Amino acid sequence: MARLALLVWLPISVYASQTIFATTLYDEIVDGLQNAKDCTSCHALLGSMKALAHLGDKPFVQAATRVCIARKVEGPEACAGDVALQGPILAHSLRNIAANGRSATLLCSALFNLCDSPPAIPYNVSFPSSPPDNPRKFHSYGRPPFKSVHISDIHIDQFYTVGAEANCTRGICCRNYGDDTGRITEPAGPFGHGRCDTPPALADSMFEAIRRIDPSPIMTLLTGDIVDHANWLNTRSVVEHELRESSKQLHAGLKSTGRLYGSLGNHDTSPTNAFPRSTSQNATNSQWVFDLISDDWESWIGPHAALNLRLHSGSYAITHAGTNLRVISLNTQYWYSGNLWLYDSDEFQPDPNGLLQFLVEELQAAEDAGLRAWVIGHISPGRADFMRDQSNYYDQIVQRYKNTIAAQFFGHSHADQFQVAYSDYSARTAENAVSFGLIAPSLTPTNGYPAFTVYDVDPDSYEVMDAKVYIANISDPTFQDKPHWELYYSARESYGSLVGNFTSLDSLNATFWHKVTEAFASNDTAFQMYMSRISRGRGGSGRRCEDECKAMMICEIRGMRAEDNCVQPHMRANHWLDYDTCDSSALFRTFGKYHPRRSFVMQ
Ligand SMILES: *[C@@H]1O[C@H](CO)[C@@H](O)[C@H](O)[C@H]1NC(C)=O
Ligand SMILES: *[C@@H]1O[C@H](CO)[C@@H](O)[C@H](O)[C@H]1NC(C)=O
Ligand SMILES: *[C@@H]1O[C@H](CO)[C@@H](O)[C@H](O)[C@H]1NC(C)=O
Ligand SMILES: *[C@@H]1O[C@H](CO)[C@@H](O)[C@H](O)[C@H]1NC(C)=O
Ligand SMILES: *[C@@H]1O[C@H](CO)[C@@H](O)[C@H](O)[C@H]1NC(C)=O
Ligand SMILES: *[C@@H]1O[C@H](CO)[C@@H](O)[C@H](O)[C@H]1NC(C)=O
Ligand SMILES: *[C@@H]1O[C@H](CO)[C@@H](O)[C@H](O)[C@H]1NC(C)=O
Repeated sequence: MARLALLVWLPISVYASQTIFATTLYDEIVDGLQNAKDCTSCHALLGSMKALAHLGDKPFVQAATRVCIARKVEGPEACAGDVALQGPILAHSLRNIAANGRSATLLCSALFNLCDSPPAIPYNVSFPSSPPDNPRKFHSYGRPPFKSVHISDIHIDQFYTVGAEANCTRGICCRNYGDDTGRITEPAGPFGHGRCDTPPALADSMFEAIRRIDPSPIMTLLTGDIVDHANWLNTRSVVEHELRESSKQLHAGLKSTGRLYGSLGNHDTSPTNAFPRSTSQNATNSQWVFDLISDDWESWIGPHAALNLRLHSGSYAITHAGTNLRVISLNTQYWYSGNLWLYDSDEFQPDPNGLLQFLVEELQAAEDAGLRAWVIGHISPGRADFMRDQSNYYDQIVQRYKNTIAAQFFGHSHADQFQVAYSDYSARTAENAVSFGLIAPSLTPTNGYPAFTVYDVDPDSYEVMDAKVYIANISDPTFQDKPHWELYYSARESYGSLVGNFTSLDSLNATFWHKVTEAFASNDTAFQMYMSRISRGRGGSGRRCEDECKAMMICEIRGMRAEDNCVQPHMRANHWLDYDTCDSSALFRTFGKYHPRRSFVMQ
């Protein structure tokens, strides 16, 4: 009898003491979050979170959900959904790293905004050959350019519902959420709203505008983020459904306008941002994404590149038929600080999944074959949320193959931007400018009017001769009847006159883009136009960017190597620049020191 009582009593007691322990840890974490003010206190906080993680995923997720709800990061449903998806990855990483190690510092920087990013760990990328003594020169012969379209961050919401509430309290509106019962204050129109992701009808209207381009483009670049921002609902089956539906739409919409070369974005998986490394243990790998995308894109990229996409974690390369242009598409998410799998070990990995090595091999092959290359990917290596280590190694690759790379194309920020890379970051001059990235504005209207870019490309040098941004003005009263896509500005027209000695044969190369930043520094009118174009004229906080803000913006443009972009974590959250803050993940905002909740911050 007594024996039986003991048997029954024991497990309950263990459970009860665990619960008490978890409650104590919860209080410690809430206190820690309230009082954490610097990097040291963040490491202490991680100690408590690590202890909680060791109790198991369930108590960890429960506690993190409570914090999310208590801090009003999102409503209970979104908090629970997002933390249930992301929380176990964070718990797993915490269990596997020391609370005071470098991985913990990186986490304190990316997640909590409390540590500065540590300097890049010195590492030399190895190259199969030295730079050629007489690199092949690619000349323009003044032949008529071809057109290439760039679309990005399309975030098509397959659950967009016309007539649903557009003025909701969730991260993404214009959907029938089951528990919405009140009177609708602002019904969603057929073509979209600034608080909502892209309705399929808006994407179709953009495809129609692309089909009208004359002469017809030979290719479209898509730099990632196909799936919507309702992260908390984006289970694997939802993401599979959205990727498939959007692929069908892209195929139908761009049928007559050449090839589509896409890259994956941080939203194009489930859970959002989560791409486990090949070394990650206890992870469901992302092969299902690569297999699905490989199938869907094969008719554009061909069987060889489609196979490479499967084998190289979403990256591939293809020579565009009839040209000497090699397009190299990278899955940048293994270098993205929002990917919580990158913190699952204290052992430093310079090249997760070998994708830097893949880039080297592809560029070497292009150089050997006398091809020019374009690099496309979701996240520019100069962004604050790009891991500094890999940004540094990426930059070494760019330096080595600067003659081969004609241009680089990215998305992710939803903003119309560019960045410049230099041979010497302590002397960022026109002479030292070696490469550049064009960051395309988004189709999704969450951070500015929906937009796409059309490049004029020299058919011999493959250099960009012009970048023309087209927008559909959501504020126009006729927008909900039929979006009207119109030329917003041409970079050549707007900036060419600001750059000395710019002739019709000159391309928009790294030297040009550096000179544009010099014009921004000396000509405030030109700089303010750039700032306004970031959101395609929709306007942001209404605050003007001057003095320190302006210096920082210019530094960020001149900082295609992340360690040189002047952005520190504490700035990200408390920034003048509304477009440039943290991640749309509720888990990130739960722990973020400033956890700003603004409708204008999603990426
Ligand atoms: C990288 O290469 C440079 C020049 O060869 C050398 O001085 C440096 O020690 C190397 N760094 C590492 C981490 O191997
Ligand atoms: C949006 O909703 C808020 C409260 O939820 C309300 O104060 C505001 O007036 C609404 N805006 C519109 C345009 O209906
Ligand atoms: C993976 O899961 C097993 C079983 O739950 C566990 O024993 C092991 O510690 C885990 N490995 C890591 C690296 O988390
Ligand atoms: C968009 O339309 C609004 C309303 O017609 C107008 O005030 C605004 O200037 C337009 N913006 C652009 C960039 O054309
Ligand atoms: C234009 O070129 C001339 C001659 O090469 C040079 O003297 C002048 O400084 C250049 N102007 C600018 C603004 O670069
Ligand atoms: C850019 O083009 C100009 C003029 O054609 C040339 O002088 C300059 O060297 C080029 N810059 C780069 C980085 O290729
Ligand atoms: C300054 O920039 C504006 C806008 O691009 C331009 O109209 C103006 O001519 C520039 N001023 C000078 C002195 O270059």
